[in-house]
Amino acid sequence: MEQLSAKPHLENFSIKDVIDSENDSFDERLGKFVTFGLNYLDHRQNLYRRSICSPMANRVKVYDENLEKEVEMVMFGSNNYLGLANNAEVKQAVLDCVARYGVGAGGPPLLNGTTSLHKQAEEKLSKFKKQEDTVIFSSGFIAQLGWMAALLSDKDIVIFDEYSHASFFEGLRMFRCRKVPFRHNDLDDLERKLKTCAKTGQQIWVCIEGVYSMDGDIVDLPKFLELTEKYNCRVALDDAHGTGVLGKEGAGIVEHFGVDPNLIDVHMGTFSKAFGTVGGFIAATRPIAEYIRYMAKPHIFSAALPVSVIQTVLTGIDLMKSESQLIEKLHHNVRYLLNQFAKIGIDTRTDSAIIPIFLPSIAKVRDMSVEFHQRGLFINSVEYPAVPADQQRFRVSVMATHTKEDLDFLVDTIKSVFTKHQLL
Ligand SMILES: Cc1ncc(COP(=O)(O)O)c(C=O)c1O
Repeated sequence: MEQLSAKPHLENFSIKDVIDSENDSFDERLGKFVTFGLNYLDHRQNLYRRSICSPMANRVKVYDENLEKEVEMVMFGSNNYLGLANNAEVKQAVLDCVARYGVGAGGPPLLNGTTSLHKQAEEKLSKFKKQEDTVIFSSGFIAQLGWMAALLSDKDIVIFDEYSHASFFEGLRMFRCRKVPFRHNDLDDLERKLKTCAKTGQQIWVCIEGVYSMDGDIVDLPKFLELTEKYNCRVALDDAHGTGVLGKEGAGIVEHFGVDPNLIDVHMGTFSKAFGTVGGFIAATRPIAEYIRYMAKPHIFSAALPVSVIQTVLTGIDLMKSESQLIEKLHHNVRYLLNQFAKIGIDTRTDSAIIPIFLPSIAKVRDMSVEFHQRGLFINSVEYPAVPADQQRFRVSVMATHTKEDLDFLVDTIKSVFTKHQLL
């Protein structure tokens, strides 16, 4: 595989140095951003926003700005877990659908934006998630903001896993309610918090994720639901990374554990991961879904998704059911990688398609990222300040469409770079 070129990069700079200055005026913040941030983005080997010039598949073409040409890379940084973003059946269905319906809705769902396909997708998603009704949003992020804006109030108490996604924290900023984090996946800590909060008699919402996106681990959902039932809480579940990945038919963590779907009040998902497209949804009881549909401003005042996206979802659900080998192959690939990593001395685990490879704090994450890039491996790093300095990691996203050759290339490249950095 062709070598990619590298620009020199600045070490020890973090965008946090800029965004942390919240007490500064906008002019001061912008000044710092121009002095430090733009300088950094221009001078480091900037691996953000790499230009992909091919379908999102196991191998992608990336435009290398230094070489001024496209090079092939092996993709381990995409959430397109089942390969549906470039699936022949999905693409054909979308082409047919665009020929029939055109490309855009032209307005919000409550006015002109709902087509018969949108309604079919709502019904199909509801069956898929074993809920009565489903509301579709233009992204998972917006779905999160939407249900929170519609259902929460300043009088509630919101208890949540400390590793929750940025969209959840952004939603919380809308409220002055009591906000109580519990330690990641620690049900004893959750119960301590529940005991204290239950004394207030206020409505308690407990918010968790099916699969945690930085660690790839899952919550013990049956035990968690025992607690939320005991303390009479409302439950919101973000199953962005579980949908299409967990459960025999890809319905996510609820199917994986076989728990009662009615114990979840707000079941959120996204189309941007295993469905390989864009959009988000909330599945719930009919009253809750209709409440969100007519109360959530991010739903009411934003244009509906185009039918091409909706068709992608409809075909995607069919494929998750009929092509069970896709999900099986994904898990086979994950197991193979975990074994191969163990053989080279990398001890890691996962419950999903996300494999974190943790690094000691001394590791030069940026140098290593550049080396991976130069060797043709597309992999994402999770750096401080997104995580604490001692929890930096590379995040491997596995796809059903990866071949054995791709998987071996990943392990060999990691082995070689880690050996060079004396990390094995
Ligand atoms: C856990 C989780 N929730 C929500 C989202 C937002 O989804 P979307 O990409 O559809 O906006 C993401 C995406 O990164 C996620 O990982």
